[in-house]
Amino acid sequence: MSREEGGVVAPEVIVALDVPDEDAALALAGRLPEGTWVKVGLELFTAAGPDAVARLSDRGHPVFLDLKVHDIPNTAAGAARSAARLGARLLTVHASGGRTMLEAAADAAAEAAEEAGTGRLRLLAVTVLTSLDDAALAEVMGRGAGTEEAVGRLAALARGSGIDGAVASVAECRAVKAVCGADFLVATPGIRLAGGDVHDQKRVATPAEASAAGSDFLVVGRAITAAEDPAAALARVRAEAGAADWTH
Ligand code: C5P
Repeated sequence: MSREEGGVVAPEVIVALDVPDEDAALALAGRLPEGTWVKVGLELFTAAGPDAVARLSDRGHPVFLDLKVHDIPNTAAGAARSAARLGARLLTVHASGGRTMLEAAADAAAEAAEEAGTGRLRLLAVTVLTSLDDAALAEVMGRGAGTEEAVGRLAALARGSGIDGAVASVAECRAVKAVCGADFLVATPGIRLAGGDVHDQKRVATPAEASAAGSDFLVVGRAITAAEDPAAALARVRAEAGAADWTH
């Protein structure tokens, strides 16, 4: 039984390829075991575009496309459709884009993946960016809700709009699962090996803490990509998260 079905299975580790061009992305991916999940974010996508996603997918790496889509429903649906046709397996959308946008993106992703035969593209909602604290959120949204309340409300909105999961800090993971159910996927960034460098992240957690909080996907960048031996660092993250050193 998978985590998604409520079973106790170790989370998947996604390696964030935060590099400026396709050559660097392919070189880094080439140092990881076959089948390792990779994240293509705004930096790499803006530089190398869909080609990088297609090439990584062709080499057997499931791609988490972290484009944080936030637009009118028609445009967001178009982005989801294009991502599905490219063969991406996970795509982020902003929950604050609202119900109509979320439903349009979810429907378009499902339809396009079926048409293209690329396998399901699951959508993850960004609730409140983890770089925003209560004061910064109030500056954007006006007085009122704090981040914790906003995260729960936006995650519930996403769930009710057909979105498969959310991106959240490890500290928010349990609350999101409590509001949305165990089968609502949660991807957690800000992961550091016990005793590792925290870099610019404010709130970090170890793989074991993320796994215990119920995270389905650990998004890990520098703890793996800046290591001398990225494959060995990935194996350590997997071991700490309770996963065997395998890929699927
Ligand atoms: O190097 P590090 O492990 O901090 O990288 C974390 C990855 O997760 C980066 O790609 C970053 O953009 C992403 N991320 C994050 N916090 C979020 C959402 C995504 O750190 N709230």
